Amino acid sequence: MTATETKVRVIEHPLVQKTLTRLRDLHTPSHEFRALSQRLSYFLVYESMKDLGVRNIGVETPVGPGQGVELTDYIILAPVLRAGLILAEAAQQLFPNVRIYHIGLKRDEETLEARSYYAKLPESLPPDCRVFVLDPMLATGGSSVAALQLFADLGIKGINLVNFVCAPEGIAKVHKHFPDTRITTASIDEKLNEVGYIVPGLGDAGDRIFGT
Ligand code: PRP
Ligand code: URA
Repeated sequence: MTATETKVRVIEHPLVQKTLTRLRDLHTPSHEFRALSQRLSYFLVYESMKDLGVRNIGVETPVGPGQGVELTDYIILAPVLRAGLILAEAAQQLFPNVRIYHIGLKRDEETLEARSYYAKLPESLPPDCRVFVLDPMLATGGSSVAALQLFADLGIKGINLVNFVCAPEGIAKVHKHFPDTRITTASIDEKLNEVGYIVPGLGDAGDRIFGT
């Protein structure tokens, strides 16, 4: 396994790949795009959390005593606005009591630099908390690096990034700045085009999810 393969998990499951294919299709209308994005979000969030910590507990079934587990990790979701909201919605259905810190970033379409317009994080976090930065698209990596930096400033390492689609350029940038970031994605695409869009990608995720 290469260093990249250990840090980037591409989920090859047929249901994930079929859903991604429908998302890529330019003929998929916005209402269907949103529903498919939510489905893909469930799959990817589920996969990204496969190594969460658990503690053994007893459970009383209608038939008698059994053994089970409960989660032990302090989980934080950090959706990058706007498009990351779709991943957060799905994750919140899996973990109704999870803590969510929204991060507002907008990519300047001329310079491709991410500009921050909202970030409300606590002054401190438990050092062993599990942070999941959620954003469907990892293109140049500017937005993800800015989001990861907010948590790095609070001393949090080994953050998880969940994306529908990644460009190789974005993965390289994230790992240059934060080598211990673990990425869960449905695809590593070919490249970025001259205006910073992922090729083949799926277009503008935010616009397609919200019909703008
Ligand atoms: C998109 C996308 C990512 C970012 C990726 O958001 O949802 O956040 O671009 O690009 P990068 O890796 O080159 O930074 P955008 O800034 O367009 O905001 P939006 O979700 O509000 O449309
Ligand atoms: N943001 C998107 O929504 N899509 C891309 O391909 C690149 C950035």
